[in-house]
Amino acid sequence: MSQNNKELNEIENVTLSHYDRNAVSFWEGTRDHDVSQNYEAFLTPFSECKALDILDFGCGPGRDIKYFQSIGHRPVGLDGSIEFCIQARQYTHCKVLHQKFLSLSLPQRAFDGVFANAALFHIPSQELPRVLRELHAALRTGGILFISNPRGNQEGWNGQRYGHFMQLQDSQAYLEQAGFELINHYYRPKGIPFDQQPWLATVSRSI
Ligand SMILES: C[S@@+](CC[C@H](N)C(=O)[O-])C[C@H]1O[C@@H](n2cnc3c(N)ncnc32)[C@H](O)[C@@H]1O
Repeated sequence: MSQNNKELNEIENVTLSHYDRNAVSFWEGTRDHDVSQNYEAFLTPFSECKALDILDFGCGPGRDIKYFQSIGHRPVGLDGSIEFCIQARQYTHCKVLHQKFLSLSLPQRAFDGVFANAALFHIPSQELPRVLRELHAALRTGGILFISNPRGNQEGWNGQRYGHFMQLQDSQAYLEQAGFELINHYYRPKGIPFDQQPWLATVSRSI
């Protein structure tokens, strides 16, 4: 699949407009989601008990920023939806960057970890290597990248949202090309057969 700049802008703008329009119902539908398995998988590789600089990439209305803040870390959110940025700032009082994934402007070596929960799959495959390299550059050496994405073998529009779904092997190849090593993965929801687990979570270390 190959897209020009106009098509890439459309992918971002249509997807983000969908989230902007549905920001209130999205918050009501997701604020009580149990994300504890993902928090634990993301935080376990950090051996020391120190306050971490965390980028919540595609933070939405701020549920996970609030959690990381509540246990003593220093989370910063990032989202392209202005409605979500406003919600997340009001809910957490943390810094929330209003940036689009395809035109990031991130500080270098500024974060111990990037938490990308249900967000990175919105990036078209042709742009994913570049964005992963930018996240790698924003992480300190040994930093952790957590990704949870729907799994599959397709790319394109799903209603008004664009998505790129991969299985483990392809996800791992993208991560390794960008300078990460995969250290853990699992499928969700927990405790049910594989064919009923639509989510793939990966934990990688920047090398
Ligand atoms: C499924 S939501 C997940 C939100 C949050 N991480 C959570 O777990 O509830 C996807 C998020 O990615 C953001 N997003 C999608 N495409 C984006 C883009 N091109 N640039 C920036 N943010 C984007 C949306 O605004 C939304 O907050």
